[in-house]
Amino acid sequence: MKYAVIYVSDTGNTKELAENIFVSLPGNDKVIADARKMTELPEAELYFIGFPVKNRTCGIEIMNVLEELDGANIALFASCGLPANDKYKQYIENIIRPWINDDCRCLGFYLCQGKASEKFREWLEAETNYSSDELDRIVEMASEHPNDDDIDKLYGFVDSVIG
Ligand SMILES: Cc1cc2nc3c(=O)[nH]c(=O)nc-3n(C[C@H](O)[C@H](O)[C@H](O)COP(=O)(O)O)c2cc1C
Repeated sequence: MKYAVIYVSDTGNTKELAENIFVSLPGNDKVIADARKMTELPEAELYFIGFPVKNRTCGIEIMNVLEELDGANIALFASCGLPANDKYKQYIENIIRPWINDDCRCLGFYLCQGKASEKFREWLEAETNYSSDELDRIVEMASEHPNDDDIDKLYGFVDSVIG
């Protein structure tokens, strides 16, 4: 089976997930590409599409990739700054799903926190009502991710998707 891992990453968290997915995929028939640098979408039977959650969505580059995919098998993965609980994961998934064409199959969505940047903190201050203490807690909690447990769960996700 041919696999393609396509991702966007500003500060490296999603890139780390993408690289771990790539190495855990069996065989040699696989490619990994930064969506911002790739010139054309590689052919594959299963696409892992990854992004940092920004402004509660996936960003224009990934929307373009998703719109280009017809009849494809897709697995989504992302890193985020806010705690990646089931409710938040479902919320983000519901926002991304409409960008996936109806004739594609979405095989799952993996989400974990990623180390927070100064820009994320500024975004939180501007866009949310968290108190300064809560902001500190979120940023501190995020700073430990992706951790070994996240990567183990990511491998489990890959296994469940490839069957
Ligand atoms: C401008 C900006 C907006 C962000 N918006 C969100 C958001 O809506 N929800 C969230 O959970 N995290 C948000 N984040 C945090 C990023 O998703 C998180 O830091 C992510 O791990 C970055 O991934 P990367 O290192 O691959 O770029 C935002 C970060 C920035 C800089």
